[in-house]
Amino acid sequence: TAAQKGGYPSFMAKEIHEQASAVADTLRGRMENGRLHLDEMKIDPALLRSIDKIVVVACGTAANAGSVVKYAIEHWCRIPVEVELAHEFRYRDPVVTEKTLVIAISQSGETMDTLMAVRHAKEQGAKVVAICNTRGSTIPRESDAALYLNVGPEIAVASTKAYLGQIGACYLLGLYLAQERGNFFPEEIAEIMHDLEGLPDKVQAVLDNAAQVEQLAHDMADATSVLFLGRHVGYPTAMEGALKLKEIAYIHAEGFAAGELKHGPIALVDEGQPVFIIVPSPRGRDSLHSKVVSNIQEIRARGARTMVIAEEGDTDVEPYADVVIRVPATRTLFAPLLTIIPLQIFACELATAKGLDVDQPRNLAKSVTVE
Ligand code: AGP
Repeated sequence: TAAQKGGYPSFMAKEIHEQASAVADTLRGRMENGRLHLDEMKIDPALLRSIDKIVVVACGTAANAGSVVKYAIEHWCRIPVEVELAHEFRYRDPVVTEKTLVIAISQSGETMDTLMAVRHAKEQGAKVVAICNTRGSTIPRESDAALYLNVGPEIAVASTKAYLGQIGACYLLGLYLAQERGNFFPEEIAEIMHDLEGLPDKVQAVLDNAAQVEQLAHDMADATSVLFLGRHVGYPTAMEGALKLKEIAYIHAEGFAAGELKHGPIALVDEGQPVFIIVPSPRGRDSLHSKVVSNIQEIRARGARTMVIAEEGDTDVEPYADVVIRVPATRTLFAPLLTIIPLQIFACELATAKGLDVDQPRNLAKSVTVE
């Protein structure tokens, strides 16, 4: 297996470093001359025009991907999007009709909780699109349509490249919906797609900076609790960063919505508490950037060690950051494909530094085929 790991110490490290090509592979062959072609889904565009609600069902990392894409699909398509853990959705009598589109996200396509949610949704008359990596697996077979990630097999239990592929594939689906429903002028879609196609190079730029985060992980190998804060699409990114650290490094980790800080979590912050903060672009709307910068200031004043993930050129964060990790500028909605990477590297390196088996964490299975 050393050869299969391609010179990396673990499959997880290898899969993290494959993410630029993973994103490129997810996008490849699906856009042409400024238009999206998802005929492979074999779904009637008329049906896509008739839906009035989208429900995303998934578990774990796939659910975090769903929480990211909710922001984009609602913004682009003006359709309400709910994201729900599949096992919660299944047993609460959810409102689902023939006009509901269910998006089931699953790397393996075999997660029993997600499969049960798909079956339940179909019984209510909903149409189901599966966003999966493993071809021919059960969830896409039982769904009405499937869109594959095309990121190649993911071996490590902790999902990394599939997460980027899930976000990429759902973005394609969201833009396709917007295209077929006439939400945009063609040139607007072409412009968004052009920016999406620029993502693999930006992912690579983040990976090329891995050494800084690797060093940080080694320095923090004895941490017992790490908090993650984010707002808007940075919020699910914080959840995913925390999940990675729990899963493989066995460190207590929690992700919060930055705006929620003063409603409780700030009580956890005392001298030396490490906190990662994912900062929105200063070019974004709604002054979210300055609100998050204020959050950094508040927790720093209470002794937190602040590790800030911010866009290149964002100098506003510098006075309050113990560490600044830079990512290239991109659209607000595309930032999650970049800002999660330092957090994946951090978890992977910290677990490696602790001498843990990064690819086979205790108590976990790659695909959870029981409810
Ligand atoms: C991710 O790191 C986890 N191991 C886990 O949360 C996983 O994402 C979840 O079990 C869903 O798996 P699936 O995508 O194969 O359905």
